[in-house]
Amino acid sequence: MSTKAMTVAGIMSGTSADGIDVAVVRIAPGKLRPKLTLLAHDSFRFPAPLRRAILAAMNAASTSTAELARLNWRLGIAYAEAMQATIKRHAVKLDLIGCHGQTLYHQARASTYAGRKFACTWQAGEAQAIAAALGVPVVSNFRPADMFAGGQGAPLVSLLDYALFAHPTRGRVLQNIGGIANLTAIPAGAASDAVMAFDTGPGNMVIDWLAQKLFAKPFDRNGSIAARGRVLQPVLRSSLRNAYFSLKPPRTAGREEFGREYAEKFLALCRRSSTRAEDTLATATAFTAESIASSYKKFVAKKMRAANHEASRVDYIVSGGGARNHTLMAMLAQRLEPLGCELASIENFGMPAEAKEAAAFALLAWLTWHRLPGNVPAATGAKRGAILGQVSYA
Ligand SMILES: Nc1ncnc2c1ncn2[C@@H]1O[C@H](COP(=O)(O)OP(=O)(O)O)[C@@H](O)[C@H]1O
Ligand SMILES: [Mg+2]
Repeated sequence: MSTKAMTVAGIMSGTSADGIDVAVVRIAPGKLRPKLTLLAHDSFRFPAPLRRAILAAMNAASTSTAELARLNWRLGIAYAEAMQATIKRHAVKLDLIGCHGQTLYHQARASTYAGRKFACTWQAGEAQAIAAALGVPVVSNFRPADMFAGGQGAPLVSLLDYALFAHPTRGRVLQNIGGIANLTAIPAGAASDAVMAFDTGPGNMVIDWLAQKLFAKPFDRNGSIAARGRVLQPVLRSSLRNAYFSLKPPRTAGREEFGREYAEKFLALCRRSSTRAEDTLATATAFTAESIASSYKKFVAKKMRAANHEASRVDYIVSGGGARNHTLMAMLAQRLEPLGCELASIENFGMPAEAKEAAAFALLAWLTWHRLPGNVPAATGAKRGAILGQVSYA
């Protein structure tokens, strides 16, 4: 099948469960890689009862079948409404939609269940609700195909990162800081099979939980609370000894690793060294920064240097809500500068911080529509390229 230019929307809602990001992208076939132009972007917060239901389902040791079925449907309605609001506001006409869904469970490592050992993942949100409301086919459920091809099902943004940011003479790292933080590293002049991508560890997840618990705020806006605190070095050091950070890429993390249970322990540790709540926030922010920088240093820096013949610096491009946390960005810059990286927000490259992941699922939907693989095996650990997801027809 030959590829054709289409206007495609991507719908993303990440592990922060803060809301829905929508990106509308014009995608045209290109010689080496598809060409993308961002036409529109919008963000929608989840209504409070829906957010509560999502967080409850994510963290539940047990829940009911009715609850999950209803949540799946309700999410589909929320995505459909966000999509409708976007096309109305920006007067765009869509050919196709890609919807990531809400991850309720992602287990990257195999464990035994009912007599068989396997890894599994689940993104909820009934895609048919979107197809029916918009009259446009929807691709959803992207991750299983990669997992059945031997991959971890994540990260899936690597192909977009490559299509948009690969550079002949500049090494580039695309660092997304959502609930979880992940990076895609593209050495200067690299082919797509030389791309590295993995979850560095926590993004805003621990910070958000602490901001809620200690300051009754959904997050630490602009990092202003952390800016007033002092980093508790012993807590930082012991937190970095977490087994996750010695896992070699490909590796993926989620609420299973850095969710509520983790944050509760982190808080208990901080309280042993300081009674000031802002010190706890500062330490959690430093923890995210340090886990990102040390992941880069340990697994990526050498490859980037080897490809950067002119000894030029690496562009370290941050997206996701974490790019708006000034304290986190300052801590990151301080740690990455000595490693030869120039830190920048993705906004300096013409892309709104929250739009990138949504745009990635537009690209993946376009590829699936043309029966083309969307995973990057070097990033997910898959044995082969896989056509991702399934289509709900309007
Ligand atoms: N102005 C801001 N200051 C600090 N943090 C912010 C700001 N805006 C967003 N964030 C952080 O970004 C998170 C949402 O980021 P997002 O990229 O949507 O993550 P996810 O993909 O996990 O949903 C919020 O939960 C919050 O922690
Ligand atoms: Mg979000």
